Formats: sequence, structure tokens, C-alpha cells
Amino acid sequence: MNNHRRTVLASALAASIAIATPLTAFAQKKIVVGFSQIGAESEWRTANTNSMKSAAAAAGIELKFSDAQQKQENQIKALRSFIAQKVDVIALTPVVESGWDTVLKEIKDAKIPLILMDRSVDSKDTSLYATHIGFDFVKQGEMAGQWLVERAKTMKGDINVVELQGTVGSAPAIDRKKGFEDAIKGNANIKIIRSQTGDFTRAKGKEVMEAFLKAEGKKINVLYAHNDDMAIGAIQAIEEAGLKPAKDILVISVDGVKGAFEAMIAGKLNVSVECSPLLGPLVMATAKDIVAGKTVARRIIGKDGVYPMETAAKEFPSRQY
Ligand code: AHR
Repeated sequence: MNNHRRTVLASALAASIAIATPLTAFAQKKIVVGFSQIGAESEWRTANTNSMKSAAAAAGIELKFSDAQQKQENQIKALRSFIAQKVDVIALTPVVESGWDTVLKEIKDAKIPLILMDRSVDSKDTSLYATHIGFDFVKQGEMAGQWLVERAKTMKGDINVVELQGTVGSAPAIDRKKGFEDAIKGNANIKIIRSQTGDFTRAKGKEVMEAFLKAEGKKINVLYAHNDDMAIGAIQAIEEAGLKPAKDILVISVDGVKGAFEAMIAGKLNVSVECSPLLGPLVMATAKDIVAGKTVARRIIGKDGVYPMETAAKEFPSRQY
């Protein structure tokens, strides 16, 4: 056989193999991520869910989404269903810190890598998860407290603070409380006179603030809310009580959502500590790296910062959530 004939035959053979091989064999298998979300308690949470969904779509990842409606038992059920479905990666935002060891062990035994997103667990065995992409909630509480300590330099007498805590037993409620208390320690005139959960919601924030106002009235100088939604609810209660939020009662909160920026521009909220919910792209990139067998960082910390009302109007046009 001459060289020309050999080349023609080889090309024909290659072409026939290409035709016979189904196209799907060349397509990469789609990564499947099971995501157990807490619920939709706040503007922050909605932005976080949207970030996860849009980032998954952009990354070509199939996202199996489960809304736990604030219940740990629903999250545990969802996690077991992800194990049964043999997803490639599980992402979990734990509503509370405790009580995860058994189900996390089941995930590990099923050899499914776990990404903790936003909130953390208090499990001693850190090998139960591949990484925690979240925040330093203690630092956020400290930043809120430091803002007050600075502001207090211009105030006279006792400064009575009421605190609206997040969901009982959740990492941000525990840590933001601690951080704030650490920051005001050493300032004997700043006192937390009431502290109660508002469950991170506007409705509960308003209800609890009404009770604080009823009990303490004009004694209250400052409201520290663990998130913007509770602060926005409380602002309504303050106004309905005939007082001026951000003037008669200073209002400090955490998250930096659009609603908080609007309240700051309206002169009703003094400061919001940022906690960016836009973790989706980072979670999806990490899921891809894990599936590809790459080593990922054990702890990745999201964006934070402090936005006082004076900067709100300038910052507002560039806010993404
Ligand atoms: O875990 C993050 C917190 O949960 C946000 O501050 C709050 O708004 C949300 O509900």
C-alpha cells in the first residue's frame, strides 16, 4: 500500500470512530451540588439564595435546593436525601451551631465533600467538612461595638443599649453578641439593659422593640440589632412610639442590605456593618476544585466593612444586594 492510500484509510477510520462514538461521551458530567438553605427570614438570606442559584447556573452546576423553613430537622432530612441521591458535593448553612455530628458523619461516610456556607457548626471533629466559607461574626460584633465606643465620646452620662439578638443558638447571634460585648467592655457608662431574640426577622424585631420601649421607654439610648431586618422592624416601633430613630435612639445593625442603606439615607439608621451574602461564586468555584481533587482552604472569610449613614448616599448606587 502506498503512503497516500495509507493516509486516506487512516482518515476514514478516524472519521468512522468519531461518528460511531456518541457525543455525550465527550461531554463532561455535570457536577451536582445539594444545598440546604435555612429559609428566607431576611433580605440578606434572599440575596444569598439568589447568589447561590445564579452562580450555580453560571458555573454549569446542577443545584438541588432545599429550604428548611428555619428548622434543623428539615435540614437533617434534606442532607440525608442528598446522600441518598449521591450528589457530588453538599453545601450547608446550619441554622444553629449544635447537633450536627451524626448527620455530618453520615455525609463523611458516604464520601461526599461538605462545604459549610455562611454559618458554622460547633463540631469538634473538623474533618467532617472540607471547608467553611463564611464570616468572622465576632469581628462584625466588635466593629458594631467600636462604632458605639467612638460615638460615645460625644455623649454624656449613661448609655443604655437594648439588643435584638438573632436566632437563638445560631453562630451569628452568639458571636455578634460576644464581639459587641468585648468592644464595649472597659466603657462603664455603656450598658446593655435588655437583650432578647428577634429571630433575624422584621416582624419579630418590631414586636420585641415595642416590648423594650414599653418596659424602658425614654431610658433607651441605643439599639444594637444583629441584622438589618430586625433594625428596620424596630425603627417602625420607635417611630410609632413617637421617637426619632437614629436621633433619640441610635440604631446600629449588621448586614449592609439595600433596605439598611435606604434607612440610612432617610436618616433613620446610624450604621450598618457589612456582611456580604454574595458567596455563590466562591462556593461553586470551591465545589469544582473539590471535585477536581484540588486542595481547598479550610476557612475562607467573606467581605465585611462598616458603613455609617454619612457615606450611605455615595455608596448606594454601587450596592449589589
Ligand atoms: O447568617 C447570616 C445572618 O443570617 C444575616 O446577618 C442575617 O440577616 C441572616 O438571616
